Amino acid sequence: PVDGLDIYVDGKAFTIRLNRPKKFNALTLSMYNGIIAALEASNKDNSTSVTVMTGTGDFFCSGNDLSNFAKAASASKDEVKAMAEEAALVLKRYIQAYIDHEKPLIGLINGPAVGIAVTVIPLFEYVLATDKCTFHTPFATLGQSPEGASSYTFPFLMGQLKAAEFLVLNKKLTAQQAFDEGLVNEVVPHSEFTKKANEVVKQHSSLPPESLRINKKLLRSHLKDTLTKVNEEECRIICERWQSKECAKAIAQFLSRPKSL
Ligand code: COA
Repeated sequence: PVDGLDIYVDGKAFTIRLNRPKKFNALTLSMYNGIIAALEASNKDNSTSVTVMTGTGDFFCSGNDLSNFAKAASASKDEVKAMAEEAALVLKRYIQAYIDHEKPLIGLINGPAVGIAVTVIPLFEYVLATDKCTFHTPFATLGQSPEGASSYTFPFLMGQLKAAEFLVLNKKLTAQQAFDEGLVNEVVPHSEFTKKANEVVKQHSSLPPESLRINKKLLRSHLKDTLTKVNEEECRIICERWQSKECAKAIAQFLSRPKSL
């Protein structure tokens, strides 16, 4: 078991639930590694036909745990470089696990999503969102850069200008806007979310599993090499950004911000 993650089989759905609600399900390094292992385990699990990802509490996920960077504040330049390189390797493996995932991925987006929790969404096959969701990638604010192969998938999905507004200029999307841009399949009122989520999972997971895998592969295989290359390049660049003064300043600001009561 990994702190912050619940991984279980629910009927024919291999389920990964982010469960760190007090930190809005921010992803720690051990959660990244746990999700990589879970995605691989799901590929090997013949008792389930889809992989579901969701979150506990009001947030889907607040992205990368920014306290992952806390140690960098008092570290030497070489130590920061080593930390950034290690984190970039984990990030690369994390995104590759989505690119390589064999079963349909179903996202049950129970609340706001930030950063990497948003950029991976185009790697899913079906996404249900509550109307309380927002989608935000504040990379520039944080002195960072897009990951998740999003520099390819977002322009592909919504066109260059909309993708730039979102990934470069930090525009926050409402659930309805995300639907309009093709990022989510369906938006439901928050009060109906759990019921609808159960229906969606039941409906999709009851389809023939072999056919699901083959059909997903057919739709994804021609982009796999491209996404793999994009992932490598994004990780190379973010590794540099993590060592930049802009990033250090933004993280320090977040970690020392006044707390709301
Ligand atoms: N990393 C680490 N901790 C996080 C976090 C993150 N990405 N997002 C939220 N948290 C923690 C907060 O530190 C706080 O913990 P605390 O109560 O122990 O201090 C708790 O989750 C609740 O967050 P808080 O900021 O108090 O709630 P809020 O409603 O005022 O704001 C957010 C919510 C998500 C807007 C705000 O927390 C935020 O901007 N988080 C950073 C998101 C981000 O930039 N992610 C990386 C993208 S690349």
